[in-house]
Amino acid sequence: MTAPLPSRDPLTPPLLDAQGRTMTYLRLSVTDRCNFRCTYCSPASWGGKKDLLTPEEFERIVSVFARMGIRRVRLTGGEPLIRPDILEVAQRIAAVPGVEWLAITTNASHLERLAVPLREAGVTQLNISLDTLSEDTFRRISKQGDFASTLRGIDAAAAAGYASLKLNTVAMSGVNDTEVAALIAYAHARGLTPRFIELMPFGQGTPVPTAELVKRLQDTGLSLVPDEAQRGPAAGPAQYWRAPGGLVGFISPLTQNFCGGCNRVRVASNGDLRSCLGGRAQAPLHTLIRGGATDSELALAIRQALGEKPEGHRFTEPGTRTALLSMMGIGG
Ligand code: 5AD
Ligand code: SF4
Repeated sequence: MTAPLPSRDPLTPPLLDAQGRTMTYLRLSVTDRCNFRCTYCSPASWGGKKDLLTPEEFERIVSVFARMGIRRVRLTGGEPLIRPDILEVAQRIAAVPGVEWLAITTNASHLERLAVPLREAGVTQLNISLDTLSEDTFRRISKQGDFASTLRGIDAAAAAGYASLKLNTVAMSGVNDTEVAALIAYAHARGLTPRFIELMPFGQGTPVPTAELVKRLQDTGLSLVPDEAQRGPAAGPAQYWRAPGGLVGFISPLTQNFCGGCNRVRVASNGDLRSCLGGRAQAPLHTLIRGGATDSELALAIRQALGEKPEGHRFTEPGTRTALLSMMGIGG
């Protein structure tokens, strides 16, 4: 199927991809650098690129996307909060007409200082990454992270009044898979929704299939009931179960293909639009902006790139590990 050719103003919604799916969710990687070095994650460059987008350029890109129908924006990295101008980036994006929801994915290391200012800047949700409650295991996973400040950051976020807080854990066999019940209790005690992600093949480690994690939890006597209201393509890639303390989510890129409900577009930290996590760079938005492109020209480039958005990623096919190594910095 090819995307319908725009017969009218390219800035008018809907923003459709090659499969006819409507795009409403934009993920922006605001830096490819990170102050942690998790074994399973390999940002494109630890040194960092000099040529990141400015707050004004993010605002411009988001306003073009918002005019095309994007309603939700997530800032990712690397670690978004190491950008010194992150509050300005958040403020400008939150103020774009049409943006209803602004989220950040973060390792929490800077949240002690930034949780309240970010919420005041207009951020509505945080997804916090935490893989373990043991300092030793933390050191094993996040080579440069600081465990104590991470935990303080999570407490600061819990107290800051966000509309939604999630705690994301990548489950790894023999590393943190025995901590799942403890992480659920930790998250629920602070008002966060715990979610467990199947390890994708970017770095080291052995994944634990979601079905296996659920079975192990149920074997310990934990009651887990599928939450039908929060499942299916419209609910996003996570499948939620109801536990006594609250919801528990599982994101299963390896064992459940959720691409059919995809509504997301990505912009990498160098300003390249990526139509799919597993896809190639398809529209150099930063270069276009610096070359003086108009909003309509940007919108046309975006539509053209999405006209080639594949049906889904190919993580489960042989050879993907090498192919994917070059694509961190897109922000998951
Ligand atoms: N598999 C699954 N999730 C990953 N993340 C990073 N690398 C991987 C991987 N290989 C997740 C982190 C965090 C976000 C930055 O991306 O856990 O939630
Ligand atoms: Fe940094 Fe998150 Fe990657 Fe860990 S998973 S290295 S915290 S971006």
